[in-house]
Amino acid sequence: MSLEDLLERNRAWAARERARDPEYFSRHVTEQRPHLLWIGCSDSRVPAEQVTACCPGEIFVHRNIANVVSYNDVNISAVVQYAVGHLHIPDIVVCGHYGCGGVKAACDEKVVGGYIGDWLMITAWAKRFVEERLRREGGEPPDHATFLRLVVEENVRLQIQHLSNLSVVREQWDRSPGVPRLHGWCYDIGTGLIQVIEDHAGSSTTAAGEV
Ligand code: CO
Repeated sequence: MSLEDLLERNRAWAARERARDPEYFSRHVTEQRPHLLWIGCSDSRVPAEQVTACCPGEIFVHRNIANVVSYNDVNISAVVQYAVGHLHIPDIVVCGHYGCGGVKAACDEKVVGGYIGDWLMITAWAKRFVEERLRREGGEPPDHATFLRLVVEENVRLQIQHLSNLSVVREQWDRSPGVPRLHGWCYDIGTGLIQVIEDHAGSSTTAAGEV
């Protein structure tokens, strides 16, 4: 698809929306009132608005490889600060997805180099946590595909934990206990369906490492 095709599609889409609702765009000019902050993977198959059937103005979005919440990432901290402090968004979703290339690369024996490798060191912890849990539980180890699904889910839990430790979130909990609420979801690219992994009872009393 050429860039010209994309621009043509844009013009057609804008015309369709205006025909459906003449005020559609003018309503957005002065403000946005999203009700959700979505932290998801950059993967092109998991667009936040499309998989939730939302429209422009409804979701505040941050995406990166493997939906990571990193402590030293000024980018995500600024997004969260703006979302909770200025837009007063009550719910934050970390949405991972099965078949995530970032999670798969973090689980590979072969080390990924460069910035991608550095970034995925965070997700590699999810792999270690799953391995430890499986060792503790004993029994037959799962096949690789199942193992990767478990790491995708664990990666979501891990990023929720990181989120709960971010100063911008903890300070917000001090101001308004319980808000923002944190949610962990996993999207299945094979079915289009979202599975709820966990709901975090937003509280500044939650100890680090505990969700
Ligand atoms: Co991904």
